[in-house]
Amino acid sequence: MGPVATMESVSAWDRRAAAPGGIGGAHGPAKAAVVGGTETPPAKPSRVPSLGASGKNSSDRQRDRPRRDHAPRVGLLVYMVARVLYFVPGDRERLDCVRAAQPSLEHPDERFMLDAPTPAYAPHRSLTADPNVNEVLSGLADYDGRRARLYFKPLSGVRRTAAHLYGQDNPVDVGIHEVAAWWLARELGPPWSELVAPTVWFDPPDAQDIGSCGPVILGMGGYASLPQPGAGFDRLISDAAFFDAVIGAQDRHDHNLRAEMPPRLALIDHGYAFARTGDWHNPYEAAGLFLKIRFGERRFRVPDGPVLDYSGVGPLSPALGAHEQAAIARLAADRDLLGVAQLLSDDRAQALRDRVARMAGSGEVLQAADF
Ligand SMILES: Nc1ncnc2c1ncn2[C@@H]1O[C@H](COP(=O)(O)OP(=O)(O)O)[C@@H](O)[C@H]1O
Ligand SMILES: [Mg+2]
Repeated sequence: MGPVATMESVSAWDRRAAAPGGIGGAHGPAKAAVVGGTETPPAKPSRVPSLGASGKNSSDRQRDRPRRDHAPRVGLLVYMVARVLYFVPGDRERLDCVRAAQPSLEHPDERFMLDAPTPAYAPHRSLTADPNVNEVLSGLADYDGRRARLYFKPLSGVRRTAAHLYGQDNPVDVGIHEVAAWWLARELGPPWSELVAPTVWFDPPDAQDIGSCGPVILGMGGYASLPQPGAGFDRLISDAAFFDAVIGAQDRHDHNLRAEMPPRLALIDHGYAFARTGDWHNPYEAAGLFLKIRFGERRFRVPDGPVLDYSGVGPLSPALGAHEQAAIARLAADRDLLGVAQLLSDDRAQALRDRVARMAGSGEVLQAADF
């Protein structure tokens, strides 16, 4: 559970970013108080992973030390703890890239989320997904004749112990990854731009600190599980598997999706993605679902439930289809990864480039957990 920092921990930078009319668009104040997450991830991690470098060192931390004139003495300790916990070198710059880009984003879903008045966010409780989730708020946005549910994931809801297992020690990057996954899908275009939930960054004008900010995700229809036996989802599953291989998805279990009949699939929850070689993958049986199905698995024996049986899905091949080869070629040709590299730490961007190169070389998608 992340710290709930006090007002003393708000830096000048945080206040500026959270200013009304600033980067958060026309959103009004968030209504719900933000608290740390209290729940557990879908699978109880069974082993301690080998974690990638966090990128922190003492001189980097010094860089983030508060200036005395900005931090009253009484709040200094809290301030410093929050700075160390919430910032690693580069994440401020990555977040600023997102914030700077948002005013000129053109996708209608992005514009809707950025321009709509802030909905009355309240804690979200999924009927179908496990309650084992981070803190998620939801609310109905109404703007320009359109009404849609939005999901807001303030960074303070990121469960720090679970995030650490995934090698995702920085909540800011966990939040940015949700945006980065969408940006990548948007830039790749169909079918991926129609699979991945559109996501923007939100700085509530009354944000107490960076923990009160986070990604806002467009509500996708359907349910948090794939209809059994999954018939008719073949193409969607295959496309989703490719996307997961590219982003290095660490946590694509059977509830980190929305699905409905007639077959429609949406991918959600991309905080634990953009993994590096050796990073941890959720050991839960159905995690890596789409890639496992693409490699031939159909039945998933999950604890506390019936076997997930996707025998209705036809044969799929790990071999890249023509549209996937074209996507890989585009990514391989662009060191900026279609604008996504700037949202990722250098090691995560390089890991993505390496995955792309390996897929280009083999002509196949990578297996789940092969980062
Ligand atoms: N874009 C979305 N569309 C529909 N439901 C969503 C969306 N995002 C989140 N949810 C709901 O919130 C739950 C938790 O969201 P998720 O992103 O999986 O967070 P966590 O990191 O806590 O697992 C999901 O299982 C789903 O019920
Ligand atoms: Mg989830």
